[in-house]
Amino acid sequence: MFDIWDVIVKIRTKLKIASKLPEKIFVGLSEEVSFDRAGENVCALISVNTEIENEINPLTDCFFDIQILDKSLVNDADIEQLKFYLPYAFANFFGRKYQKCFSISHFAQTLDGKIATNHGDSKWIGNEENLIHAHKMRALCDGILVGARTLEIDNPRLNVRKVHGDNPVKIILGGKGNLNLEKYNAIEPSSIVFKCPKNLRDSGDCIEISEETPFNLHNILNQLAKKKIYSVYIEGGSYTTSCFLEQYALDQVQIHFSCKILGSGLNAFEFGNIGKISDAIVFKSVRFFPIGDEMMFIGNL
Ligand SMILES: NC(=O)c1ccc[n+]([C@@H]2O[C@H](COP(=O)([O-])OP(=O)(O)OC[C@H]3O[C@@H](n4cnc5c(N)ncnc54)[C@H](OP(=O)(O)O)[C@@H]3O)[C@@H](O)[C@H]2O)c1
Repeated sequence: MFDIWDVIVKIRTKLKIASKLPEKIFVGLSEEVSFDRAGENVCALISVNTEIENEINPLTDCFFDIQILDKSLVNDADIEQLKFYLPYAFANFFGRKYQKCFSISHFAQTLDGKIATNHGDSKWIGNEENLIHAHKMRALCDGILVGARTLEIDNPRLNVRKVHGDNPVKIILGGKGNLNLEKYNAIEPSSIVFKCPKNLRDSGDCIEISEETPFNLHNILNQLAKKKIYSVYIEGGSYTTSCFLEQYALDQVQIHFSCKILGSGLNAFEFGNIGKISDAIVFKSVRFFPIGDEMMFIGNL
């Protein structure tokens, strides 16, 4: 059966080694993807606006057009999925071109803005569709990042299990105290840990941040780009994502609104006291879309 997700993964894989932006992406009946020639049986054609190549922000700009040539194979839901996830498949290409790491945060929060109870429990605020979405995003990003407390409390695996695709590089921020990294699922030889000098036992690729906390996150994103991580999915927790937002180091915020109310717990975002509504952080563009029987918010900064 034709699987549009496989097509998206194949496009990302080809774009990761492409030296130039393809003008056309041909999608074949057996999900094969080609940038330079139409195969025998093309069922979809993606045209890329290469004239504006040097100005494209893949997360915000409209730079491709999708033409479906075989509607019996590619249905409306496939087209929606292609439109939604394709920009992220391009993030590595443009990050490489601009030597920048695109940063996208994701939370599952309650209607009253909580991402965990006061006891640190956050499983499962979101629904199954949100979990699948998060795994798709992991597969489309080069890195996945969490703060040290999320590592400690949740011990997440941070891999891609719900869909087909490659695992991103796992990145941990912080770890004051004596975290024993060997006991965490997300720590493996390829993981990157940004830590204060001499605060942690070394494991994985430990990079010491010699400055005061909070870390300068633009500096961290630059270091990730130098390590060929051109897109990073930030999966919390509150302190980590709030630091990114407060330092204007986020390109996109994704929030899954779960139809639950806690009335207490950990706020999704928490930072300096803002006295006037006119000083609130606002987005350049926003959209909402259904995710299962709940809602997802996407805001570009
Ligand atoms: N619902 C969801 O979608 C979701 C997602 C993820 C997590 N969570 C929940 O969120 C909770 C954890 O959130 P949290 O706010 O307590 O902790 P967190 O953000 O996971 O981790 C905070 C720690 O990370 C390090 N850190 C992060 N950014 C830093 C920066 N810019 N500079 C220096 N250090 C930095 C610091 O470690 P050190 O101080 O140790 O150096 C800091 O104490 C857990 O209960 C988890 O279950 C929910």
